[in-house]
Amino acid sequence: MILITGGTGFIGSHTAVVLQQAGYDVLVIDNLHNSEREVISAIGQITGREPAFIEGDIRDVSLLAGLFKTHHIQAVMHFAGLKAVGESTQIPLTYYDNNIQGSITLLQAMRNAGVRTFVFSSSATVYGDPQRLPLTEDHPRSATNPYGYTKLVIEDILESLYRSEPGWKIARLRYFNPVGAHPSGLIGESPQGIPNNLMPFIAQVATGQRKQLNIFGNDYDTPDGTGVRDYIHVMDLAEGHKTALEYCNAQAQTLLTTNLGTGQGYSVLEMIQAYEQACGKPIAYQVAERRPGDIAACWADTTYAKQTLGWKADLGLKEMCQDGWRWASRDNTGQQKRGQDSFNTD
Ligand code: NAD
Ligand code: UD1
Repeated sequence: MILITGGTGFIGSHTAVVLQQAGYDVLVIDNLHNSEREVISAIGQITGREPAFIEGDIRDVSLLAGLFKTHHIQAVMHFAGLKAVGESTQIPLTYYDNNIQGSITLLQAMRNAGVRTFVFSSSATVYGDPQRLPLTEDHPRSATNPYGYTKLVIEDILESLYRSEPGWKIARLRYFNPVGAHPSGLIGESPQGIPNNLMPFIAQVATGQRKQLNIFGNDYDTPDGTGVRDYIHVMDLAEGHKTALEYCNAQAQTLLTTNLGTGQGYSVLEMIQAYEQACGKPIAYQVAERRPGDIAACWADTTYAKQTLGWKADLGLKEMCQDGWRWASRDNTGQQKRGQDSFNTD
């Protein structure tokens, strides 16, 4: 059985689908801080069986100890965390406690239970402002905000742990910009309040929830002046996790650190155009000030992931926008819809 922390969240839920469809049993723990319980039944609808679910916090020592005692857990995929950069500057202690202390508590419980396979959600944010592109895994790391620091620190904790005793199989996966949704339209990203990230914001302009997109700067040193990012379909990312888990399982011990991106950068204007194609509507926008802390451009070197995992992203911008739009444009009583629809990709 694979324990997925944060498994009702955006990336964790898609990974749960891919693992279940590959035949793994999945146990999800999530405190539902940024997700809903209904995601579990949606995963059930897609895959034909619901994963086991515990509503709880990864900082709860006794809950975790009990969980490892009562379930035969072979590996942990650790998605649970807070992820809003702006919020992390306002409530840094909450971020350090949730992300860093949460990870330590989880790793201690694993260690006590003799479980030593761990796949961690790191981020391209650890590269800071790129000194060169594409970003290779040996690019110097830095952080400019508490969220980014939590990723740096957890990466370092994992390295110390790996070096402290034999047998750990650890994957540190540095995601670029995950977007899109499962093609069923039954699970996707559900940001609370005003979305921080580009794609969910564009989606809300398309549905009429927001009047227009603010493009944060069009005077960057990029082909059209707007920011360039490496957007990756969440289903490709989920497949990357399965591959990383299988890679770990095949080693006696390992500390794998790899990018998960497409290697291709798109600008904000290109994303708007692609989304307009997918939803068939114009996306209203205006150019606004640069967002503090933003970088001009960022995309992955994918060579190492291909070489070590034999993994590469297959889905393009079209699928990212079409699948994202299918999810965003579901009727707003999404939970009822999940109850009515039947979708099984098996
Ligand atoms: P998400 O918010 O959708 O999912 C995270 C889940 O973790 C949520 O369901 C939340 O309720 C849960 N959670 C948070 N703290 C918890 C705790 N203490 N105990 C139990 N559950 C807890 O976010 P996501 O986009 O799916 O991101 C998953 C991971 O990937 C995060 O660690 C994030 O930092 C990392 N990441 C995300 C992105 C991105 O753009 N989405 C990019 C790079 C890295
Ligand atoms: C953000 C986070 C980063 C995190 C990443 C993946 C910040 C400063 N950085 O990065 O730490 O790892 O998400 O989740 O929040 N844009 C607009 N208008 C908008 C929103 C975004 O023009 O309303 C632009 C941005 O300036 C950027 C691009 O769209 O050029 C992508 O932005 P976003 O989706 O927030 O991702 P990142 O900035 O890459």
